[in-house]
Amino acid sequence: MSTHAEEALASATSDASLVHAQKVSAALEAKIAEDPSRFRVLTGDRPTGNLHIGHYFGSLLNRVKLQQQGVETWLVIADFQVITDRDGVGPIKERVYSLATDYLAAGMDPEKTVIFPHSALPELNELMLPFLSLVTEAELHRNPTVKTELDAAGRQMSGLMLTYPVHQAADILFCKANVVPVGKDQLPHLEQARLIADRFEKHYGHPAGTDQQVFPRPQALLSESGTILGLDGTKMSKSKGNTIELRMSEDETAKRIKKAVTDSERHITFDPENRPEVSNLLTIAALSQNRDPRSIAEEIGDGGAGTLKKVVTESLNETLRPLRSARAEIEKDPAQIHSILQRGIETARAQAQETLSQVREAMNLVY
Ligand code: TRP
Repeated sequence: MSTHAEEALASATSDASLVHAQKVSAALEAKIAEDPSRFRVLTGDRPTGNLHIGHYFGSLLNRVKLQQQGVETWLVIADFQVITDRDGVGPIKERVYSLATDYLAAGMDPEKTVIFPHSALPELNELMLPFLSLVTEAELHRNPTVKTELDAAGRQMSGLMLTYPVHQAADILFCKANVVPVGKDQLPHLEQARLIADRFEKHYGHPAGTDQQVFPRPQALLSESGTILGLDGTKMSKSKGNTIELRMSEDETAKRIKKAVTDSERHITFDPENRPEVSNLLTIAALSQNRDPRSIAEEIGDGGAGTLKKVVTESLNETLRPLRSARAEIEKDPAQIHSILQRGIETARAQAQETLSQVREAMNLVY
């Protein structure tokens, strides 16, 4: 492996490379706006729990925007990734259906977007074999996101935990996505996917009779995820009960916000450094109202935490109202979700089979 590639992979989350990734991402955003037809987006989620407002403001809204711009969008429900850091899949079917329901309720249109669980694509596992030959064990062990997940899981490294980034590269590359909207924790995986695309090209070139690379190099479109914290001021996490899930009712939302941590200072100010909890609530209100958090703080002023919580509850519930009512409608008809997933799987499999045959041709494995 070239030193350049090694460095790129190791530093995919370092500060300097984050700044670089942000620049690349901003340039990409401009290019997409110019000519959306040149791009194919793939992104997705692990069905480990229900989507919450962090997902909503951090990624869902952006996916809907891309779809509205006319970019072809693919959404992978990464159900095999659930077993990277835990035993058993949990109530997987309910979660996959719930995730698909959230996508649709948020405005993803199944006529324009391919939604599929990746376990339904055996071709991905086939792609994984040549892909595994294109990565080194050292690279896999060096992946900072895998390291963090391993620490958080507090268990031994499994073969899947170590190699799932290669399976994720198959998620991205099989459909020839060139844009992958993700948070910064996913940058090492994207770097790995680019290395695989490059090395495949280097070793095997193009399929006979074409001058097209089999795999385009996928670029990250960085999302703002992480801009909101949990209601206790720590990282949002389902297991801590500090989130607001999209599927919650307005009453449940109000109750959660009522219990949110604030501080002892009555006068409300936006000061993320010194007053993280209060500022976080202001950020949620600001995102909901599409306004500046400082001006909301000024308006509340001496109204204190009580007024702040009331403002957050009302504006968040109002913003989520259309999504939640769409959600309730969709939930009444699980057969509709079933058929949308079936269609997604069909489309995705046809693409995966085509890509796989190009791979076989390029590798001269056609008998
Ligand atoms: N690893 C991603 C996460 O934990 C989910 C995912 C799986 C994904 N495959 C992907 C994201 C492909 C983007 C592209 O959220």
